[in-house]
Amino acid sequence: MRIGVYPGSFDPFTIGHLDVLKSAAELFDKVYVAVLNNAGKSPVFSVEERVKMIDRVIETAGLESNCFSGTFGGLLVDYASSVSASHIIRGLRVVTDFEYEFQIDAVNRHLMDTITTVYFMANPSHSFLSSSNVKEIGRYGGSIEGLVPPCNEHFIRERLARQ
Ligand code: PNS
Repeated sequence: MRIGVYPGSFDPFTIGHLDVLKSAAELFDKVYVAVLNNAGKSPVFSVEERVKMIDRVIETAGLESNCFSGTFGGLLVDYASSVSASHIIRGLRVVTDFEYEFQIDAVNRHLMDTITTVYFMANPSHSFLSSSNVKEIGRYGGSIEGLVPPCNEHFIRERLARQ
């Protein structure tokens, strides 16, 4: 069985993340969407809220037969190994992502060279999209429609408007 882990902060999960997840779900028997539990990053949404939003997306997108949410607080490779994953899944949008991803990949290879990272190119129409952009737009009252999955839009908008 081919198992992949799609890790990230997902603060919040965007339409771009959903694109990557859909592609991964076609190639892997099981995909774990793993939310980084790291208070040091000062997330807007708690881990529980992010997991709940991801569960809602998985259900709404009809991906529940092979996609699952999870959380991890230590090394990514240890989490991947604990769910018997052979691959880590990441998305790439723009050239600057490459440098960041290159470093993460090098560290993970050093730690556990049996796990391979694969990358999905973002839809060009989402190349500008990031969780940080969503937060900034929402905080200043801009529309986040089309940037986050519709099932979570209201919750995200309300939270950001209060910030
Ligand atoms: O969505 P992000 O914030 O770009 O995801 C980064 C993430 C979660 C993949 C990375 O920070 C991570 O794997 N953190 C866990 C700690 C770890 O394993 N570090 C070694 C690789 S940098």
